[in-house]
Amino acid sequence: MIRHFLQFRDLTRDEHLYLFERARVIKSRFKRYQPYHPLVDRTLAMIFEKSSTRTRLSFEAGMHQLGGSAIYLNTRDTQLGRGEPVEDAGEVISRMVDIVMIRTFEQDIVERFAAHSRVPVINGLTNEYHPCQILADIFTFIEHRGPIHGKTVAWIGDSNNMCNTWLQAAEVLGFNVHVSTPPGYEVEPERANLYGTDHFESFADPMDACRGADLVTTDVWTSMGWEEESDERMKAFADWQVDADMMAVAKPDGVFMHCLPAHRGEEVTAEVIDGPRSVVWDEAENRLHVQKALMEYLLLGRVES
Ligand code: CP
Ligand code: NVA
Repeated sequence: MIRHFLQFRDLTRDEHLYLFERARVIKSRFKRYQPYHPLVDRTLAMIFEKSSTRTRLSFEAGMHQLGGSAIYLNTRDTQLGRGEPVEDAGEVISRMVDIVMIRTFEQDIVERFAAHSRVPVINGLTNEYHPCQILADIFTFIEHRGPIHGKTVAWIGDSNNMCNTWLQAAEVLGFNVHVSTPPGYEVEPERANLYGTDHFESFADPMDACRGADLVTTDVWTSMGWEEESDERMKAFADWQVDADMMAVAKPDGVFMHCLPAHRGEEVTAEVIDGPRSVVWDEAENRLHVQKALMEYLLLGRVES
């Protein structure tokens, strides 16, 4: 059976724990300049309907480092931009490559592509989810602070694709999320596709959400696709800026994360994101290592080496 990674919960807890361990091995080998080419002759197609720096670079570099090759496609230069049905694109593209990564708008687009794909499909960000980023974030947390099970993550800001994926991850891996959003931007459990509401708690005051947190995290106030709401959001989110006061009520060893790109002076102060508790550069780098582990797993299954 073909395995896809379209939402965080598409993989089980055991599979995620395997991926974190595998990412550790792959990263340490890479840091020692040891070549590792399990995906020789394999091709990754990357389809981008939205902008990207990290996702493109980490998938493209990662596939090359594993011995394979990667092809970049975007809406503008392909027939997808001229209305070719996504189902037809799934049929055709998946006959020519071994694995596909898609960044697009509605989750339904990746689901429909995957339903017509002969090869594994990875969600590289949709309006609803960003599962590869949360893989990297949790791997980064484990590196800095150990297992995430039982820990508390404070999510401050928009209930967007990142927030939804944190909530799914909390269910899969057994941790808690404290969410604080401005009124009108609350979590929608159905959109987040949760089994229940046991793993998260909502707080009106972002300071309360941060209290005792092991990890404080946020994201842009206006995600890709919502640009026309930018002015309105700027006003609504003004009190949801992660600052030194919020970090002061988190656990003394609580870390700060942001998936990037960041807007200093909006969702986070420069003092916090550039401060000693911020792990954002490790977080960004780890996209490379976790996605190499993910592609290896989807194509080869569990490996021993
Ligand atoms: N965090 C992230 O996905 O970054 P890009 O938009 O640059 O890919
Ligand atoms: N929530 C942001 C994440 C960017 C990596 C967006 O969707 O634009």
